[in-house]
Amino acid sequence: MQIKNVMVVGAGQMGAGIAQVFAQAEYNVVLHDLKEDFVQKGMDYISKNMNRQVEKERMTREEADAVLGRLKPSTDLNNASDVDLVVEAVVENLDVKCKLFTHLDEITPEHAILATNTSSLPITEIAAATNRPEKVIGMHFMNPVPVMKLVEIIRGLATTDEVYKMIEDTTKTLSKTPVEVNDFPGFVSNRILMPMINEAIYTVYEGVAEPEAIDEVMKLGMNHPMGPLTLADFIGLDTCLYIMETLHEGFGDDKYRPCPLLRKYVKAGWLGKKTGKGFYEYN
Ligand code: CAA
Repeated sequence: MQIKNVMVVGAGQMGAGIAQVFAQAEYNVVLHDLKEDFVQKGMDYISKNMNRQVEKERMTREEADAVLGRLKPSTDLNNASDVDLVVEAVVENLDVKCKLFTHLDEITPEHAILATNTSSLPITEIAAATNRPEKVIGMHFMNPVPVMKLVEIIRGLATTDEVYKMIEDTTKTLSKTPVEVNDFPGFVSNRILMPMINEAIYTVYEGVAEPEAIDEVMKLGMNHPMGPLTLADFIGLDTCLYIMETLHEGFGDDKYRPCPLLRKYVKAGWLGKKTGKGFYEYN
């Protein structure tokens, strides 16, 4: 089987980025979401990125238009009836993802691979919601997707070697680097990244230093491109909290307990860049 037709479910920041990199690599892409304005927002993000590539003379206008021409907006999940691969990038909620995978299993062709971009939820459990667990796999892209080179490829318990290899090869065609990981809470990326972010939040909570100082220490001292609190605002504090809760519950170890200040900010609706306020303020 050769993957040619792809559906990305969820047109948020991650889904739109994923759709963009597939379209750039000459796949036919359906970008799906529940409402037209969600899909339109995703398409606008991709158009903006394409315009930037043209302005920077990395692409001709014709090439950029060809990328946009390979993208089809969708609000009807039945458009998945002829795809070879689905990449799901919807809200981080196990129940929502399981229901979606059950539905996708019913409408996609038998050969189609169902991938999830979950940042920490169990691939094996999502796979169990389908009748094709051997064709379910994690494909975890990093934010911002068009820029970041890594894709963590997570094997569920039943994922076959053949499916793994196909997704590994597909990832390389996107000019990304696949890294193989087994199915444990947070995989590798968020098992290491999120406790660091959580510890940075404890450092604010305990009055050790101001957010600016903490970020400066990690940027100048450890050469991180962004400080952990800027990164937390960028990822979204609700997502950070959800991942910490997944680690805490999944391992049953208090070393993963979310910082109370993180909970407080999320309850206040201070979710970071997307709401205009988190550890910093944004216009
Ligand atoms: N979408 C598309 N392109 C973007 C972008 C976005 N959201 N943000 C930045 N870029 C592009 C810019 O257009 C620019 O491209 P050009 O070279 O064509 O100009 C390039 O990235 C560099 O951007 P800037 O010069 O504006 O800024 P920068 O040099 O500070 O880089 C950054 C920005 C790439 C985001 C960098 O700060 C960085 O690497 N930050 C860390 C990101 C990170 O750690 N991501 C992982 C998050 S964790 C995750 O995703 C997993 C999870 O499950 C939570």
